[in-house]
Amino acid sequence: MSDGQDSFDEASLTVAHDAANAFEAVVPPIVQTSLFTFSDYDEMLATYRGEKVRPTYTRGLNPTVRMFEEMLAKLEGAEDALGFASGMAAISSAVLSFVEPGDRIVAVRHVYPDAFRLFGTVLKRMRVEVVYVDGRDEEAVTRALPGAKLFYMESPTSWVMETHDVGALAALARRAGVLSIIDNSWASPVFQRPLFLGVDLVVHSASKYLGGHSDVVAGVVAGSKELIGRIRAETYPYLGGKLSPFDAWLLIRGMRTLPVRMRAHQEAGMAIATRLQAHPMVEEVCHPGLGNRLPAGLAGTSGLFSFIFHDGVDVRAFVDRLRLFKLGVSWGGHESLVVPGEVVLQQKAEPNSAVAFGISPRSVRLHVGLEGAEALWRDLEAAIAAASSA
Ligand SMILES: Cc1ncc(COP(=O)(O)O)c(C=O)c1O
Repeated sequence: MSDGQDSFDEASLTVAHDAANAFEAVVPPIVQTSLFTFSDYDEMLATYRGEKVRPTYTRGLNPTVRMFEEMLAKLEGAEDALGFASGMAAISSAVLSFVEPGDRIVAVRHVYPDAFRLFGTVLKRMRVEVVYVDGRDEEAVTRALPGAKLFYMESPTSWVMETHDVGALAALARRAGVLSIIDNSWASPVFQRPLFLGVDLVVHSASKYLGGHSDVVAGVVAGSKELIGRIRAETYPYLGGKLSPFDAWLLIRGMRTLPVRMRAHQEAGMAIATRLQAHPMVEEVCHPGLGNRLPAGLAGTSGLFSFIFHDGVDVRAFVDRLRLFKLGVSWGGHESLVVPGEVVLQQKAEPNSAVAFGISPRSVRLHVGLEGAEALWRDLEAAIAAASSA
């Protein structure tokens, strides 16, 4: 009698093959493969000649990653999108696709610190100059733009939450013939759709709200077929910051609940920001939703904002007394987080970093998660009371 070993290989191969095709699954499969094979010489030749578009190697094209890209393109109203292994891979690939030595970039001040460092190191070595402007000052932007290659925006910025009239700035860039890029991680396309406001390219740290579960580091760039095609051709394959199929699958899972999560972050974030603003130990709350109306182009707010304590609060004691808010960077997941400004300023040791990022040492940044506003407020209130000398 056969012990079955002789037919094992064939059986296992058949199972794998059928599994790849057979499920009418509600959750898409993860095409977790590095390479794709060809049926014959002609098919391979046609693909390499560009006559046929199909995956050959996952660094170039992968069906699960493509599904994520198409989903994000739809959310942003883009013709196309390209996924990356991190937000910084998306930002660096996008920027490096459009500049060459001698070029100038205009950026709004207080951009995400690692974007600031990319500009101050790699781009500086390439002899690309970056000048910073206050994006709220449209005359300053108008003066800075002529002759620039790129206009880099982030609105709101991710510590002091400085907001800009994105549509007005995009129009200024277009008039000056300058390509505009915006980091839209904070608002997500649920609350801000910059391509509709006239911006040319949108980048995201998908590690934040798009993923939404703090289990993936990823990035994405969205825009016209022409601009995304240029990134796909110029930097994407060679810098190689490719999004993995499994991470793309996690993002697809996360993005299905994006609108629901964003509304919950907004509601809890607003409730807490409003109470902090009324608290006697708080000097200022930096939250774009606290004015009479939202800045132009912004349809809602997320759970990330910062506030500045009055002198009589020991920030260290406050942070250490928090129970629900965990000490940690990043944001966008279920959990509520706190980051003290002073710690960030120590870590970011560049000269002028306080000026560059607008961070006060008496400030803390909160990410209001999904645990429930009442419990979170009680946590904050108790910690402020324990840390106040008055
Ligand atoms: C506003 C913003 N943009 C970009 C990034 C970079 O994204 P990643 O960490 O996915 O590279 C971050 C990360 O914290 C961020 O906060």
